[in-house]
Amino acid sequence: MASTLEALERWVNEVAALTRPAKVHWCDGSEAEYQSLLQQMLADGTLIELNQQTHPGCYLHRSNPKDVARVEHLTLVCHPTEEDAGPNNHWMDPAKAHAKMDALFDGCMEGRTMYVIPYCMGPIGSPLSRCGVEITDSPYVVANMKIMTRMGNAAQERIEREGDFVRGLHSTGELDPERRWIMHFPAERTIKSYGSGYGGNALLGKKCHALRIASNQARDEGWLAEHMLIVGIENPQGETHYIAAAFPSACGKTNLAMLIPPEGYRKDGWKVWTVGDDICWMRPGADGCLYAINPEAGFFGVAPGTSNDTNPNALKSISRDTIFTNVAVTADNQPWWEGLPGTPVTDWQGRPYDPANGPAAHPNSRFTVSAKQCPTWSEKAEDVQGVPISAIVFGGRRPSLLPLVMEARDWTHGVLMGAAMGSETTAAATGAVGVLRRDSMAMKPFCGYHYGDYFQHWLSFDRPGAKLPKVFHVNWFRKGKDGKFLWPGFGENLRVLEWMIARVEDKARGLETPIGILPAAGELKLDGLTLPPATLDELLAVDQAGWQAELAAIGDYLDGFTPRLPAALRAEQQRVAEA
Ligand code: GTP
Ligand code: MN
Ligand code: MN
Repeated sequence: MASTLEALERWVNEVAALTRPAKVHWCDGSEAEYQSLLQQMLADGTLIELNQQTHPGCYLHRSNPKDVARVEHLTLVCHPTEEDAGPNNHWMDPAKAHAKMDALFDGCMEGRTMYVIPYCMGPIGSPLSRCGVEITDSPYVVANMKIMTRMGNAAQERIEREGDFVRGLHSTGELDPERRWIMHFPAERTIKSYGSGYGGNALLGKKCHALRIASNQARDEGWLAEHMLIVGIENPQGETHYIAAAFPSACGKTNLAMLIPPEGYRKDGWKVWTVGDDICWMRPGADGCLYAINPEAGFFGVAPGTSNDTNPNALKSISRDTIFTNVAVTADNQPWWEGLPGTPVTDWQGRPYDPANGPAAHPNSRFTVSAKQCPTWSEKAEDVQGVPISAIVFGGRRPSLLPLVMEARDWTHGVLMGAAMGSETTAAATGAVGVLRRDSMAMKPFCGYHYGDYFQHWLSFDRPGAKLPKVFHVNWFRKGKDGKFLWPGFGENLRVLEWMIARVEDKARGLETPIGILPAAGELKLDGLTLPPATLDELLAVDQAGWQAELAAIGDYLDGFTPRLPAALRAEQQRVAEA
């Protein structure tokens, strides 16, 4: 017996009988196992060694060029009824979905090794953590899971103690985009993913488990599984407030999680601590406050644009023991992407670099690195109790209308701000420019059930005895008439976080407006920053006509979730519209 848990043993045997591998390997999570996987992948070309003088322990993986990103149209949430999946998800009948997937998995591991990866999302000893087992035929997935999760014996022991785990079955298959599906079965706590080796589709602990399945577990068990960073802000007195923030993909979560304070703040003794950069699980503690953990143990970050100017902490983290996927390389075999100094000689597909072929690194090229390598990694990230959350922040790319920062009047208003969240498309993406896409709580691709029920779940946290965090909405992306960003952003965002903390501590009065509470004159500290007063006025203006149109659009959007839209949320939208 490979496991003392009968349910685990039986499931692994069933999968092996279906996929028919030559060998089954139970991962123990040891360093020796990781090293031997690396050697095997170097030998068969899955990994390419990078310059070990400049980047010790760093390797490059080139994926199939047709397999470089999450595929939302092939990602399904298979609740027993379509209604439970909601208009925010693609759905298939579970029986039909299982049949389709099992036909693909039939014999798919013949001649190969099947890896069994027990993993824990969150610190092993935390009551907030949840476990899973991923079965895969990809050693690249095993190596990435080793970095991104607490994987191996300790996780297996917890699973055997608890008797409960999320089942994830993955095969890279033949990488044929026509035979690729990522299926979730929330009622069975099961994931089946076939035909992709890409991170979000193949590292099942991340988006599939920690968001799509976990959002269902969270709803049943009374907690929240969110697409949020967690950052600790330590003031010169040594007090730390933890903030959780939800921004859609490519809107700066990793940046904010690793923020470097502006010069003056550094001198005064402000410090920033990274707890998580992508996923946050939080639940009410005995004292009524929300406590959060980062279920992940590593960063799976976008490489292009990561530089000493934009995110020095991320760059320092990836100078050793990192797996790079689809980046370019320089003449002396260092990893390279757009935004770094130096010149690429080989592009992400292994061809001699030619600008006619597009960027040298794939725009969605990634690094996988242990969070422990981040210079600002917080000790509290291992705290089994989680960190108390003082503020929840929503935000997106809004070139117009949305102010730099506003505070919700209460929890219900905050839930409305989250539900109304949106981001405007840019020229960087295909499709029309300046089109607003709603992405409630930044969970559109990840909420594993009906958004109407999800909004109701959020509202349910406001109950007697609750000491809920304040809720804010930020917009780092306001543009002026010249098309340039009005707010300098990045490290300077600490000024906005400082105002939030002042509000939490009741040290700033704020200014009541119809759309929420904004910083009163002089409350945002701007010393050391050259920001024309007119620009600040524009960043904090409330355009009445613009807001009437926005609130009407929010109402229309919410109506799309009828009949499951909570009446309280629609009433809140009307209240703000009439304010
Ligand atoms: P996922 O990891 O895909 O969920 O996304 P993410 O939210 O972590 O996005 P990421 O941090 O990779 O987004 C980076 C993008 O946001 C880059 O284009 C940055 O230049 C931009 N960005 C981050 N912070 C700021 C800011 O304060 N101001 C401006 N103007 N741009 C910013
Ligand atoms: Mn990120
Ligand atoms: Mn993300």
